[in-house]
Formats: sequence, structure tokens, C-alpha cells
Amino acid sequence: MQRIKIKELLKADPNNVIGNDYLVKGWVRTRRESKNISFIALNDGSTINHLQIVVDHDKFNEDFLKKITTGSAIGVKGQIVASPAPKQPIELHSNEIELYGEAPADEYPLQKKGHSLEFLREIAHLRPRTNTFGAIFRIRHHLAYSIHKFFNDKGFYYFHTPIITTSDCEGAGEMFRVTTLDLYNLPLTDHGKIDFSEDFFGKETALTVSGQLEGELGALALGEIYTFGPTFRAENSNTTRHLAEFWMIEPEMAFYDIIDNMNLAEEFIKYLIKYLLENCYEDLEFLNNMYDKELLDRLNHVLDTPFERLTYTDAIEILKNSNQNFEFPIYWGVDLQSEHERYLVEKYFKKPVILTDYPKEIKAFYMKLNDDDKTVKAMDVLVPRVGEIIGGSQREDNYDKLLKRIQENHVPMKDVWWYLETRKFGSAPHSGFGLGFERFMLFVTGMGNIRDVIPFPRTPKNIEF
Ligand code: 4AD
Ligand code: MG
Repeated sequence: MQRIKIKELLKADPNNVIGNDYLVKGWVRTRRESKNISFIALNDGSTINHLQIVVDHDKFNEDFLKKITTGSAIGVKGQIVASPAPKQPIELHSNEIELYGEAPADEYPLQKKGHSLEFLREIAHLRPRTNTFGAIFRIRHHLAYSIHKFFNDKGFYYFHTPIITTSDCEGAGEMFRVTTLDLYNLPLTDHGKIDFSEDFFGKETALTVSGQLEGELGALALGEIYTFGPTFRAENSNTTRHLAEFWMIEPEMAFYDIIDNMNLAEEFIKYLIKYLLENCYEDLEFLNNMYDKELLDRLNHVLDTPFERLTYTDAIEILKNSNQNFEFPIYWGVDLQSEHERYLVEKYFKKPVILTDYPKEIKAFYMKLNDDDKTVKAMDVLVPRVGEIIGGSQREDNYDKLLKRIQENHVPMKDVWWYLETRKFGSAPHSGFGLGFERFMLFVTGMGNIRDVIPFPRTPKNIEF
């Protein structure tokens, strides 16, 4: 008999499955005993919903049934019948049960419902088996899929940028080293410096903080590309919004100016939300009911609302006049903190905001300089509860201006000469942005901590799993 997934069974018209025999396999969430009957709630990961298995005690050995405890893995053959229980249309009456793996009740940590998210983080190897993390990781899958679908349908090409690199795209000096040198016996130059010519690549290398610079090379040939890969930042920020290893989606488009870039970002976000509402409704509804009662309303509201667009300079004025007691002071030139971003989005505009034209001093070297010589064509997209989820810009496409910015920012020419060359040969206006995958997951799941939307979070002093 072929196995069927629980999702397929529950999705089917009951009339088409009632009376038929099926084989299901999964993990026991609970087993309740009444007089001569047990009820097993079985989950196989395909859906948030469990299949109710009815076990007639006369058909099975008592000692065998005792081993079917919460967390054990079983396969069940039996007949689907209409269920008298109000919440489910069907149940499975078992004829045969195979026990694949026990989960001794005195040791299995997920006996009861309602464990704290903090506790579950300590058992990241088992937390996918909870309803909450099942829902989150299914949503994560659908989100990744819908990102590829969005770009594919628009004619963008998925361009693979390297993980190991020599250049620090964001210039923040937050890179993780990659080396095969013997750390206990480092080769030194005559000047007493580490001799990286002896290293694997013959150069100093690190994990990438962004695929953008290489993505631009793709865009200036294929037209419209996107990257979707892991990025790494060794910033020591222990916040609910920072990971040391996170995933980023970076579209890069030739012949797009900053307005085209903003339009794409807004369309992209709305597309993804709509896709998730259509394809993961049950999981979203579960999270809405368990963690964030406004989640579904918020997502629907964002779908229906044009994003507010304003300049950094205007935002500073609003913040100055806000009469809020911000922890960090507000003045023109300051890098906005999450408290400022959230005030604008949650209190002032009450919708997502795209901030543009930031002072050049607080943005990366590659952003296109405005005619005022003071601001750059940057754009950050801010959303409720999370703050910044997208950072992007129109790129400086003028050779001389880019060269000047590289020098002003002390970016070593040996690391970016190839980048600069694209402004020498067939340079074209172009733009792009980066969406933080886990920041977006925070937004669409309503979870409060970024550690809870990635299976194995990497944060300072935390890498058990
Ligand atoms: O604003 P960022 O640093 O921009 C870039 O890296 C550009 N190269 C993107 C581009 O234009 N192609 O990062 C982009 C986004 C942020 O808006 C945020 O959502 C996310 O990446 N992000 C992080 N997410 C989790 N943990 C961190 N430590 C993050 N740092 C950035
Ligand atoms: Mg940013």
C-alpha cells in the first residue's frame, strides 16, 4: 500500500476518501486512552493539522501500545471513516501499526504543549516537531519558493555570487575570515605581518556580507538578475533582529533608476505576502492565534496600502517634531535607529515607509551621488514591528564619481578594480536592493525574535546545533 501524506488526506473531498484504506506515517503528538479505545493525534509535517487515528485495544497487544507515546514515530494502515468529532471531517481506524522509533516518556522533552520559545531554542534539534516551528518552517519554504517564482515570472535570472570573497561590499569591516593557515604557526612577512600569500587563495579572504558587487556584474550583462544566498556578518549585535548568518535576496537591474527600484521593492513585498496568504493560510492563522493577534490584519493592510515614500531629510524633521523621548538623539546626518524607524512606520504613517536620499556619510560607497553632493540615491524599506527589511540604492555609474567615493571610503583598489571597470566599459544606470530573508520572515510570521524564524540561528556565542 502506498503511503499518503496527511495534508493530501485532509485536503481531499471526504466523500472520495471515506471507506478507503490508507497508510500514513508520522510522529505521535498525543495518545489519549479511553476504555477500549485510544486516540492518536498523528502529525507528519505536511500540515499543521493532525490526523486522528482510532485504535481499538482488542486488535493490539497492550505492551506494544504502551510504547506508542508522544514523540514516537509510527506507520498506520487502516480505513478512513467519517469522524464524529466536530473539528475534523475524517479519522483513520487502524488495522496495523508499525512502530519505527520510540520516544521514552521520561526523557522526551516535548511531552506537553506550551513550552517557551526560549526553551525551544535550547533544543533546536527537536523544535521543528512543534506546531509552532512546523508552521514557521513551512512558511519559510513557501516564501523561498515564491521569491524564485516572482523573479522567474518577471524574466530575472538567478545569478550565483560567491560565498568566499576578498571584498567588503558594505565596508563595515564585519567579515568572518576564511583561512587554511595554521593559526598556531602563522607565516610572517619580513615586516612581521601575516603572509597571506601562503594562504589557500594566496590572498586574505572572508565570507561575503553581500552578493551585490558581483550581482552588478551579472545585471550589466543579463539585464535583470537576483541572488538568493547566505550572507555573513561578524557584527556583535545581540538583538532580536540580527543574525551572524542570514539569507539575503538581492535583485539588480540594468536601466532602473531609484524610482523603478522602489516600485519593484513594493511590488515584490506585496506579491510575497499575497502568495503566503494564498498558500500558507492555515499556518499563518495558527501563528496569528498563538502569537500575534494582529498578524493577518496587518498583512492584509500592507497589501492594500501604497507605501509612504519620503526623504531622509523630511523624516528627520518629523522625528525632531515628534516630542518622543528617543534614546538616541535626532539630527541631520545621524544613522536612524530602530526606535526612529518604528516611530515613523507604526505611529506616524501607520504603514510601510520607503526612506530615500540619505547623507552619503552613513551609506556605502557604491550609492549614486545626488546633485546636492551631500546625499545619495539610497532607499530603505521599513515595515511595522521589524523596521528595516530592505536596503538598496541606485548605483553610482559614473567612473570618476565612483572612483572618488572609493578613495574617500578607503576601499582598497586591489579588491574592487574589477567593479570599477564596469563603469569604464558599457556603464549603464542601474539599481538594486537587498531583502533580509529572516527580517521578512519576522514580518510575515509575527514572531518577535529572529532566532525563531531560521532553523539553526547563528548569533554571538551561540552555535550548538
Ligand atoms: O542594508 P544592507 O546592509 O544592504 C546590503 O547589503 C546591500 N548590499 C543590499 C543591496 O543593495 N543589494 O542589508 C540588506 C538587508 C537589510 O535591510 C536587512 O533586512 C538584512 O539585509 N540584514 C540582516 N538580517 C539579519 N541579520 C543581520 N545581521 C542583517 N544585516 C542586514
Ligand atoms: Mg541597511
